[in-house]
Amino acid sequence: MKTTISVIKADVGSIAGHGLAHPAILKKCEDILAKAKEEELLIDYYVTNCGDDTELIMTHQQGEENEEIHELAWHAFLEGTAIAKELKLYGAGQDLLSDTFSGNIKGMGPGVAEMEFEERPSDPVVVFCCDKTEPGAFNMPLYKMFADPFTTAGLVIDPSMHNGFEFEVFDVMEHKKVKMTCPDEMYDLLALLGTISRYVIKRIRRRDDKEIAASVSTERLNLMAGKYVGKDDPVAVVRAQSGFPAAGEVVEPFAFPHLVGGWMRGSHNGPLMPVAQKNAYPVRFDGPPRVMALGFQIADGKLVGPADMFDDPAYDRSRALASDIAEYMRRHGPFEPHRLPADEMEYTTLPGVMEKLGNRFEDIE
Ligand code: F6R
Ligand code: MG
Ligand code: MG
Repeated sequence: MKTTISVIKADVGSIAGHGLAHPAILKKCEDILAKAKEEELLIDYYVTNCGDDTELIMTHQQGEENEEIHELAWHAFLEGTAIAKELKLYGAGQDLLSDTFSGNIKGMGPGVAEMEFEERPSDPVVVFCCDKTEPGAFNMPLYKMFADPFTTAGLVIDPSMHNGFEFEVFDVMEHKKVKMTCPDEMYDLLALLGTISRYVIKRIRRRDDKEIAASVSTERLNLMAGKYVGKDDPVAVVRAQSGFPAAGEVVEPFAFPHLVGGWMRGSHNGPLMPVAQKNAYPVRFDGPPRVMALGFQIADGKLVGPADMFDDPAYDRSRALASDIAEYMRRHGPFEPHRLPADEMEYTTLPGVMEKLGNRFEDIE
């Protein structure tokens, strides 16, 4: 039997401001998914939120990009939006870019990370959810998980992983993709992955047998909508253990709170802070950006769990470091590299300023 895990997320409204998804939205989504489980479209589900984003974690046997599953998620987000409007929540329906569902939720606003696999005798899966950042935020941690032996000891000492992994990378500007293998093409891969706003890891497979290991939501809302409609706040699904990085290797990269684009107005660099779900609420300057990690066992499609993996005192130092970095970055105010480069900002007054200055700009002799 093949199991599909679909994680579909959207920001359809929050309190206070772009903060926290309202419990009434989560409840509505749960009711809708419970009904779909009753009707046997879903095997199981888990609804959660990372900051203002509502995440639907669903298991089923319909495969990836299934119309019924995507429509179910769309319907849940629409119903959530209706509640958000009633409560006058902030940003009600902000990530739903269309009025009507057209067969696939991709390109309609919500983020999607899916994978289908034959269950192993025991199949641990980690679902990562971010708020106030973009899909490229996963580039560095995923690279470390699947290609860096200083993170994942298994790459060196576990024969089942020793041949490495294949990375599928999307160019989100040109809508192109490329597959590259590690360790052989490590340097070439890093040449792309360092440009986190453009080259984004979509999938990772084990090289030996092409078994799926990781899947990331790569939607870039701002590119799709052609104007600012919020950051893309990505999710990722990663399989662990027995031929994949161990659960501890999967979460290890997040101990380093690396700088990512997002934070206030989607226009600032800041540290990605690993947090327990209850702390996935970015407040200070709408941040700093957060990542949470929910661990499940998949048992005949059932979601056993979750374990809230960053709810661990071993991450306290990472959080303290993230707070120090946040303080340091904040003191730059409107200056780069805290503020993003002009072409990466989600919205900007620069064209208006340039227009106002008009012909006051003179040639330099
Ligand atoms: C960033 C984000 C927030 C908003 C900010 C301004 O992704 O969602 O930082 O950009 O709160 O929001 P508006 O323009 O709605 O007042
Ligand atoms: Mg929002
Ligand atoms: Mg968000």
